[in-house]
Amino acid sequence: MDPTDARPAGPVLVTGAARGLGAAITVALADGGVEPLLLGRSLASLADTRAKVAERRGRTVRCIAADVADWEGLRDGIDAALQPGETLAGIVNNAGVIDPIDRVEDSDPAAWAHCITVNLVGGFHVLRAALPRLARGGVIANLSSGAAAAEHAGWSAYAASKAGLERLSATLAAERPDLVVLAVRPGVTATGMQDAIKASHVDNAIRQMPRDAMQPVEVPAKAIARLFSGPLPGFIERVVEAQALREID
Ligand SMILES: NC(=O)c1ccc[n+]([C@@H]2O[C@H](COP(=O)([O-])OP(=O)(O)OC[C@H]3O[C@@H](n4cnc5c(N)ncnc54)[C@H](OP(=O)(O)O)[C@@H]3O)[C@@H](O)[C@H]2O)c1
Repeated sequence: MDPTDARPAGPVLVTGAARGLGAAITVALADGGVEPLLLGRSLASLADTRAKVAERRGRTVRCIAADVADWEGLRDGIDAALQPGETLAGIVNNAGVIDPIDRVEDSDPAAWAHCITVNLVGGFHVLRAALPRLARGGVIANLSSGAAAAEHAGWSAYAASKAGLERLSATLAAERPDLVVLAVRPGVTATGMQDAIKASHVDNAIRQMPRDAMQPVEVPAKAIARLFSGPLPGFIERVVEAQALREID
């Protein structure tokens, strides 16, 4: 990676843009002068984020209604949102779920498979659909988690999906040296996902963390959005913590 490379022009696709980190990253991109291309499960769910982006950019905000688990709907939605020949400057592969939170022996097999389908297969779907439209020098941020490398009781499906996403990221990085492919671990962030963790019945260190000890969503969002609007730092790793990205601000 050459840190002096200018970022290519074009929109940055953000999945899971309706709320949480995805919404905050979308707004931070707009604040940085980058056009976000919003993807959520419905247009209605994207309305708040869309309004915030419109306020900042003062023009039409492009949105895609698609479920990342639905390959054909996702592919067609991305194709329809872009002009013929138009390229993306980047991809934020953010959509994700934490459920099921259960010990392995108690987990519902269908719920376990659904987590893998959204977080890992869905992440692959997004890359498979968007890569043909990604400009040379484009940046990919796949939202991973510390759970890819550390154990938390109850999170077996989530941890497995994020470990898989990191290996998918590393493999793509080896295949495509013309791109910047990163797995980003945002750190514990006060979003709806943390509410679901609090409400779960399997205890672990993250569930015990008070909400006011978690970082606000704007903090990792700004660090992640910065990957798409300026020169990249030379030291950047394939798996990077949002904390490390903040230190280069
Ligand atoms: N918060 C943390 O502490 C933390 C820590 C490490 C990693 N992460 C990762 O960061 C990412 C964002 O997490 P978050 O905390 O912002 O979670 P969140 O508040 O639960 O938001 C998740 C987002 O993903 C969307 N989504 C879920 N399933 C989808 C699907 N099948 N297709 C399209 N969109 C879907 C949701 O859309 P709906 O509104 O339609 O449900 C929502 O916009 C996730 O990948 C998560 O694993 C979060």
